[in-house]
Amino acid sequence: MKNPYIPTRAKIEKILIETEDNNIKTFDLGILNKEEKDGFTYLPGQFAEISLTGKGEAPFGIASSPTETGGLKFTVNRAGVFTSALHNMEEGDIVGLRGPLGNYYPLEALENKNLVIVSGGFAFTTLRSLTKYMLHEDNRSRFNDITVIYGARSPGLLLYKDELEAWGKGADLDLHVTVDAGDEGWKGKVGFVPTITKEVAPSSQNAYVIVCGPPIMIKFTIPVLQELGFPPERIILSLEMRMKCGIGICGRCNIGNRYVCKDGPVFTLAQLNEMPEEY
Ligand SMILES: Cc1cc2nc3c(=O)[nH]c(=O)nc-3n(C[C@H](O)[C@H](O)[C@H](O)COP(=O)(O)OP(=O)(O)OC[C@H]3O[C@@H](n4cnc5c(N)ncnc54)[C@H](O)[C@@H]3O)c2cc1C
Ligand code: FES
Repeated sequence: MKNPYIPTRAKIEKILIETEDNNIKTFDLGILNKEEKDGFTYLPGQFAEISLTGKGEAPFGIASSPTETGGLKFTVNRAGVFTSALHNMEEGDIVGLRGPLGNYYPLEALENKNLVIVSGGFAFTTLRSLTKYMLHEDNRSRFNDITVIYGARSPGLLLYKDELEAWGKGADLDLHVTVDAGDEGWKGKVGFVPTITKEVAPSSQNAYVIVCGPPIMIKFTIPVLQELGFPPERIILSLEMRMKCGIGICGRCNIGNRYVCKDGPVFTLAQLNEMPEEY
């Protein structure tokens, strides 16, 4: 049996600077071993541990969709020691990769439903994966209307700008991009994500909502969604606890008797309401 702590080697094939402050980059990783590459099958919502020699490892949501060809995408915000070291890597460098880990968005439950995606900041990563997955021609007919509400602090901090532009122009979804504060070139919405969610007022009829973002955004968005009629079992969140092993062994990430790494990171609000308030 393969030791689950041993990472596979992956090459950084491409690095894209996402934001004008240079603090968020997307890394395209290619697993070197063909067998391991073919065995890395994942679904939107899952994450992986990236490791760097001498620096340790850290969990990151998989931002690519399994429907995409090319490398596995990880969008990384420079936060501290590990992420700064990763930001200093170059194309062609080798990193370690363990995964895919955790559960995924409940795709079976989302079928034939209207989907509302609400996100802020760099937490949009696995929701990019989900949106790409649902928009793919093989999957689009499985899901009803898709509404995406996505916000960043300023226009220069928006992720995946080319994609947002393409989705805004022609894709089969209703896109609302907002910033907390615009600049002279910004023609889109200005306002916090909870306010814009209230304004857009997506219908809760036959709908699920998936929310990812900073805790403050989530705190103010949940009441808006509840006012719109979304019950807790149709509000889905992805948690970002501190983690170590990522496979339910070390006990670092537990909330009550649940391990965020293994039982999550995706939970419904109804499930979270049953758990102690440690997240
Ligand atoms: C399931 C999961 C998915 C994640 N996906 C992404 C992703 O797609 N992109 C991304 O940039 N980051 C993601 N993270 C967070 C990422 O793992 C941390 O930012 C990283 O471990 C920080 O390491 P560091 O050594 O650079 O920072 P540290 O020196 O460890 O910390 C720097 C700062 O970041 C805070 N921090 C560290 N880890 C976390 C965490 N897990 N949650 C909240 N705050 C934290 C610390 O409190 C501190 O203020 C994810 C975390 C989890 C658990
Ligand atoms: S990180 Fe070790 S149990 Fe979850």
